[in-house]
Amino acid sequence: MTQSANDAQGVAVARDPQVRDPKDRVIVFDTTMRDGEQSPGASMSLDEKLELSKILEDMRVDVIEAGFPIASNGDFEAVHKIAQIVTESTICGLARAGVADIERCAEAIKPARRGRIHTFISTSPVHMKWKLQMEPEAVLEAVSRSVAHARNLCDDIEWSAEDATRTERDFLRRCVEAAIRAGARTINIPDTVGYTYPSEYADIFRDLIENVPGADNVIFSTHCHNDLGLAVANSLSGLQGGARQVEVAINGIGERAGNAALEEVVMALRVRGDRLAFHTGVETQHITRASRYVSAITGFPVQFNKAIVGKNAFAHEAGIHQDGMLKNAETYEIMKPEDVGQGASNLVMGKHAGRAGFREKLKELGYELGQNALNEAFQRFKDLADKKKHVFDDDIIALVDDALASGADRIQVKHLRVIAGTEGPQQADLTVTVDGVEKSDTATGDGPVDAVFNAIHKVVPHEAILRLFQVHAVTEGTDAQAQVSVRLEEEGRIATGQAADTDTLTASAKAYVNALNNLFARKEKTAPDALASGF
Ligand code: KIV
Ligand code: ZN
Repeated sequence: MTQSANDAQGVAVARDPQVRDPKDRVIVFDTTMRDGEQSPGASMSLDEKLELSKILEDMRVDVIEAGFPIASNGDFEAVHKIAQIVTESTICGLARAGVADIERCAEAIKPARRGRIHTFISTSPVHMKWKLQMEPEAVLEAVSRSVAHARNLCDDIEWSAEDATRTERDFLRRCVEAAIRAGARTINIPDTVGYTYPSEYADIFRDLIENVPGADNVIFSTHCHNDLGLAVANSLSGLQGGARQVEVAINGIGERAGNAALEEVVMALRVRGDRLAFHTGVETQHITRASRYVSAITGFPVQFNKAIVGKNAFAHEAGIHQDGMLKNAETYEIMKPEDVGQGASNLVMGKHAGRAGFREKLKELGYELGQNALNEAFQRFKDLADKKKHVFDDDIIALVDDALASGADRIQVKHLRVIAGTEGPQQADLTVTVDGVEKSDTATGDGPVDAVFNAIHKVVPHEAILRLFQVHAVTEGTDAQAQVSVRLEEEGRIATGQAADTDTLTASAKAYVNALNNLFARKEKTAPDALASGF
């Protein structure tokens, strides 16, 4: 890959402030909202996607894959809106090789300052035979046709060979050559089923770069799934083989075992620049915020020992480690927590803090709110400070995320009283407002949470099934806020809600109601019939 190929991408390469060899600049392509959202249960609402795209842009991710526009009206709308609001990152949509997919995608990304169509087709024998039911020559023809059609609609085309790592090498070379000839600028070699091995993956890139005519003028990309736990290692190895784009997702979410985690790939490149002489444009201090946000909106917890963003990633328990850390942090830390935005959870202000100080604190935590949102968050902060002795950064993050998640909800929890204890049945008296109109009812249940959810059923009748109910303490101590995630499913539509409150039952009611709001607002999430054909 040459410098001219890198420049030709027109992505954010030029804004990297560090004077380094541009040919070693790695383009970071985030697929949290596309491949990540494909993980069962990880669906995100439009507002959540808009917020996440702003976080990714702040983080200076080069390319944001915002969705699969033909999959549903909701996906189309999300890509279209993100293309309107994001100005710094390239906005990409996914399309299969058919004309309808490509045209829908082109329409969705139209408002983008920099837009990209990402089109793909399977190239492995098993996929061609069973999924596509197409002969290899027909697939080859579809590669040329689809890329050429996309190229007529958009300058920036990425082409992917689905299941590339199980594709016969000679056929892969022919497909890549066809895609380059038809005008693709980026060639993605996905390890769709997480099957490859680092040295093998690097070898595929070397082979293609050496042997395919025109390979010098395009960027090769990695896209690794984590079925064998090798997604990050394979991505790094792909770079060593000559790739200069990595496709990654926050917290590693994605189909089955997920995709390579953005935070792990980016920090491996940053920390081990001595072995991997590549650099990205990612501003890594936004990583923790992105990780927390993705975890909150999907309801997928981040495991405590997860690299970079886990709660324990920078914790030192053993006495001998603590002793070393006190003498010099480098004894046990290979990167600073601040580098990934994981500061110690600072004690913030008390209830006498003013609005200006609160705004400054929000800025420090990465939030820039409009006047109304700021007023609402400030009021919530005051209420929290009345209830809780110490308010920490994490409390502020939880309450702002909560306000952002539920601010526009049509149904709001107004009042809740719960009778709990050893003598059942437990009882909940609930009042909600629906478009401003109050509705109240009482229900009993098998435990207080069941009683609360039964009361919600009574005031807002619905058929949704509860798929996930999860509670985390935001900070330590018995007065900590509980952060609750709820996932509901109704007729194939999935929606997640979350809320935080010092009262766990109030947080549970609000999270359930937030999920219901998201469910009702959601357009059909299930793919139209056309998607079942796989082409
Ligand atoms: O894993 C995969 O092959 C994909 C493609 C659609 C790029 O996600
Ligand atoms: Zn994938």
